[in-house]
Amino acid sequence: MNKNFYITTPIYYPSAKPHMGHAYTSIIADFFARFKKIDGFNVHFLTGTDEHGLKIQRSAEKNNMKPKDFCDQISKTFEDLTKILNLSNTDFIRTTENRHINSVQNLWKILEDNNQIYLSKYTGWYSVSDEAFYQNDEIETKEGKKYSTSSGSLVEWVEEESFFFKLSEWEKPLLKFYEENPKFILPEARKNEVISFVKNGLKDLSVSRKTFSWGIKIPTNEQHIIYVWLDALTNYISALNFPNTKDNLYKKFWPADIHIIGKDILRFHAIYWPAFLMAASLPLPKRVYGHGWILSGDEKMSKSKNNILDPLEIIEQYGLDALRYYLLKEVSFGNDGNISQEKLENCINSDLANNYGNLCQRVLAFCEKNCDLVVPSHEFSKDDLNVLLPFENLNKLRNLIDNQNINVYMNFLIEMLFASNKYFNDQEPWKKKDNKIRLNTIVFTALELIRKISILLYPVIPETSLKVLKIFGIDEKTINFESMSKHESLKVGISLSKINILFKKIEK
Ligand code: ME8
Ligand code: MG
Repeated sequence: MNKNFYITTPIYYPSAKPHMGHAYTSIIADFFARFKKIDGFNVHFLTGTDEHGLKIQRSAEKNNMKPKDFCDQISKTFEDLTKILNLSNTDFIRTTENRHINSVQNLWKILEDNNQIYLSKYTGWYSVSDEAFYQNDEIETKEGKKYSTSSGSLVEWVEEESFFFKLSEWEKPLLKFYEENPKFILPEARKNEVISFVKNGLKDLSVSRKTFSWGIKIPTNEQHIIYVWLDALTNYISALNFPNTKDNLYKKFWPADIHIIGKDILRFHAIYWPAFLMAASLPLPKRVYGHGWILSGDEKMSKSKNNILDPLEIIEQYGLDALRYYLLKEVSFGNDGNISQEKLENCINSDLANNYGNLCQRVLAFCEKNCDLVVPSHEFSKDDLNVLLPFENLNKLRNLIDNQNINVYMNFLIEMLFASNKYFNDQEPWKKKDNKIRLNTIVFTALELIRKISILLYPVIPETSLKVLKIFGIDEKTINFESMSKHESLKVGISLSKINILFKKIEK
């Protein structure tokens, strides 16, 4: 079995400070990356910043800065964000790095050599904020100004000499590829949008600009810079040392297992990117998942407007793991979601503090009083085996992850938390002081439930999960998904360490 796993986030435009949407995509990708890591995969997890193009050039101008200085400054805030979000990314790529410039120019040469590029003139609409070309039928007029109907962003008229990529040649091969790889684009509804867009006909794509300079030069014509999306998408292979396809990283990790993106950039990832790759005779990624948006719809949160969508403020107030938990549990993955203070506080109080925190506290306190904080021996009865049983089906959980069923995974976790608390209540170990074997068995089982649930929680709330696993002597290096199913992994006789309060309840 192939035990390598390559996952990417989009590379972010360093044109504004990081917001909740950026945090969301990153946390989702980190969830999958961490799961795969504890399931024994070599994980390559890439994120970074997308620094070329007119949008960035104009943002830099507004700030009276040179584009590169501007990018250095803002890219740093995105790199800082990876630390603040506790991302397990193994690389952070900037498209202004030489490794990337070299990779893009080489891909360009391959496309030229494969007769996929020709010189012509672009006349049409362009949105700088989307860095996208739009057809006439994708434009609407409002108060005399023109906007894209799909993104709502302002467009401007462009007329200039431009190199074109023969996208139209790839219409049929793309449709064939979607058909043969029905899970290439997920979720399903988005796939259908892409397919009908392609079926409507693909025009050749303008892939160079001449009227500004902030970009990667075309190696064979220095008057043109390469279209920023052709530049940006290539980051996924630049980070694997393309064009050196003999490189170990490239051999291990390309094609990528999954590109996690937002639905607004699906066209680029599900149409242009595979077309570029096919045209260059390179393998295609295995999946593109277009998630929904995080909307700011909750009045309660907005004492000062937009406050709530600043991930840093939420993290400061509630803690990172509370935010991670919320985004993974409360947003129906694939659909749009909201952040509401009330729902966030409910998550903290009922799931994290009550359900998880309390289970850990009471079982450990009881174990300390009655078993000297040592893992006791056990003689299982049916009740114990029953409560442990659902954790044995590892492949069921692996399937959920491989199909991006985050919400089903989260529901399983929550059910197991309820079942564990119920088990401890129903078994009433405090009434078994004259039956030491029974008391010990209940404590063992409850400890084992904590260990299992904490392993499942690692991709969701890694910091808290590791705090709990530490009491069993498990750390980031030794945590292992496979061990979750086997209660033999919890060694009888080992001393446990104490635990502090995990989540404070929020008073309402
Ligand atoms: O698109 N909710 O960069 P970007 C959820 N540089 N996701 C959101 C969001 C929201 N409110 N707002 C943005 C780009 N996103 C390109 C990518 S990849 C080769 C180049 C998501 O900084 C958005 O959908 O505008 C996208 O996936 C990501 O944040 C980066 O957005
Ligand atoms: Mg955007």
